Amino acid sequence: MSFPAIGVCYYPEHWPVEWWEEDARRMAEAGIKYVRIGEFAWSKLEPTPGELHFDWLVQSMDVLDRHGLKVIVGTPTATPPRWMIDKHPDMLAVDKEGRRRGFGSRRHYDFSHLGYREECARITQLLIDKVGQHPALAGWQTDNEYACHDTVLSYSDAALQGFRAWLAARYGTVEALNEAWGGVFWSMDYNRFDQIELPNLTVTEAAPAHWLDFRRYSSAQVAAFNKVQFDLMKAARPDLPVIHNFMSRSTEFDHYELAETLDVASWDSYPLGHLEGVPEPAESKLPYLRQGDPDNSGLHHDLYRAVGHGRWWIMEQQPGPVNWADYNPDPLPGMARLWAWEAFAHGAEVVSYFRWRQAPFAQEQMHAGLLRPDSKEAPGYFEARQVAEELAQLGFGGEARKGRVAIVFDYQSEWAWKIQPQAAGFSHQQHVRNCYVPLRKRGVDVDILSPSTSDFSGYDLVIIPALFAWNDALRTAIAGFDGHLLIGPRSGSKTENFAIPAALGPDLPQNLLDAKVARIDSTDPRQTVSVKGGGAVGHWRERLETRAEVVIEDEEDFPVLVAQGRLNYLAASGDRALMQRIIDRMLDEADVPTLALPAGVRCRVRGKWRVYFNYGDTAARLVPAADEAGYVLGGAEIPAAGVTVAALATAG
Ligand code: GAL
Repeated sequence: MSFPAIGVCYYPEHWPVEWWEEDARRMAEAGIKYVRIGEFAWSKLEPTPGELHFDWLVQSMDVLDRHGLKVIVGTPTATPPRWMIDKHPDMLAVDKEGRRRGFGSRRHYDFSHLGYREECARITQLLIDKVGQHPALAGWQTDNEYACHDTVLSYSDAALQGFRAWLAARYGTVEALNEAWGGVFWSMDYNRFDQIELPNLTVTEAAPAHWLDFRRYSSAQVAAFNKVQFDLMKAARPDLPVIHNFMSRSTEFDHYELAETLDVASWDSYPLGHLEGVPEPAESKLPYLRQGDPDNSGLHHDLYRAVGHGRWWIMEQQPGPVNWADYNPDPLPGMARLWAWEAFAHGAEVVSYFRWRQAPFAQEQMHAGLLRPDSKEAPGYFEARQVAEELAQLGFGGEARKGRVAIVFDYQSEWAWKIQPQAAGFSHQQHVRNCYVPLRKRGVDVDILSPSTSDFSGYDLVIIPALFAWNDALRTAIAGFDGHLLIGPRSGSKTENFAIPAALGPDLPQNLLDAKVARIDSTDPRQTVSVKGGGAVGHWRERLETRAEVVIEDEEDFPVLVAQGRLNYLAASGDRALMQRIIDRMLDEADVPTLALPAGVRCRVRGKWRVYFNYGDTAARLVPAADEAGYVLGGAEIPAAGVTVAALATAG
């Protein structure tokens, strides 16, 4: 099967069997190549314990196969059926207040519950046995959206037992744990591992290292849960990709760690639903209510390309209005096409729309599909079909171009600043975004790097924003790098055990950066201080003791940006104007070429093409870039929600 391709999510169990053939025919006619099925179907596959009904699944795959469609089969482990709760009453997750979460929706299981993990291994093996050799089978999806509905942290007995064992393995002796957690501080020392509790329900905050270890433990359980399914799938069909569908702004477990047992990363892209969660002031989102934030999807495409080591899909693409945000606008005509093109430009192999037909029943009855509930085409259908035609017409493909600029994204840092914010709302991913957006406004392609990267070579500029603690890999990468570095506030301000390093932050060798964070000034983000030359700082300001060159300072004469050789350190959270100024300066110093893009327009190079997308609600005019040989789809006038593809004079 050749990539890139269009796909769709389909639920044969929701429709009369007589409809399947016509559905499959129409999918193929629309240019769809991949169909994901099965991920919530446990009660249909096994209505009572041991009573197996897999015939319908095989039959639906036979139908799809007859129309040349390839199938991704999802394991139904996000939706354990009701009888499972009778069998394992303690498999339900427990919330932070100690309340058991109930049956009646989905994702009600506890990652630490070993009995449930065995049930998942059993149903996965059954799927492998029944459809693992089916000619239409093109890959597997494990579970569905790990972490959705706040389900990673569970305060159950299973989690408690697992946590104690995990701590014993990590620390060896309880004395080592007491030392690492700072037990002496409030007489919190333990005598034995079996005295340790989970960090919820304490009178006031538990030790930050206690919380951080609980988050590390919980993240490891999600990875271990995935590994069970991955191992079975690979043992049976080493040739088929194992995929999971991740989410937007989801940081509750370490996705790099989980992806050690995946072949392909994918994520579920709902740009209008996600707009509410994008951390920008409400007024600045108003022009994008029907298009989504111009950088949120791009950032996630780049992140999941890193998580998937280059291989990634969109498993669910918004096709029209969704049902789960406060308001669910109809996308601007063209956006269901634009979002797919944007994903392909960032390197996606497949963009699969969610879902084929809108369901007239249950929770998501207000969620659009490519078809309406009466089977007539919804607008998204025509846009999906258009993308399929355009991909074929251009022969679009190739590799997403490696960026000259990279940003380090680290899940642990996001946990750390949630555990001990010091400034309410301070977030690692927000600081990543603050650097990403100004780069994208200049037409710069960006790669995301994991914190286990030990070599930055090939990049002209690497940015490390708000990184909680250095590790050996990053220290090695920094020491050996001869490109430009921008290290941003709070980086290296803690040790792995959540303590202040002896040398204070940013804890870099003096020959690299002669600077110490002597004190922190954290304020309400609305309370800002102007910066000389333009922009403002606020929310987080560090008082630096430094002998490095002060490049930018604020109106109160505190250093904001200092430089020593090619290493730059940003000692505050900057507003948009300041971040654009700093990024422009870094791009200039690192000699990275930029483009003059109209507001609301972004672009990305893949193979021998540069794809432009207009998130704006009015037409814009593109300025041809020096490396382009002309437009092959659309033109210099790019309409609202439009896409233009330029051919490059030399391959990207
Ligand atoms: C996703 C989920 C799907 C469906 C969809 C609706 O988060 O994976 O099962 O609920 O949202 O937008």
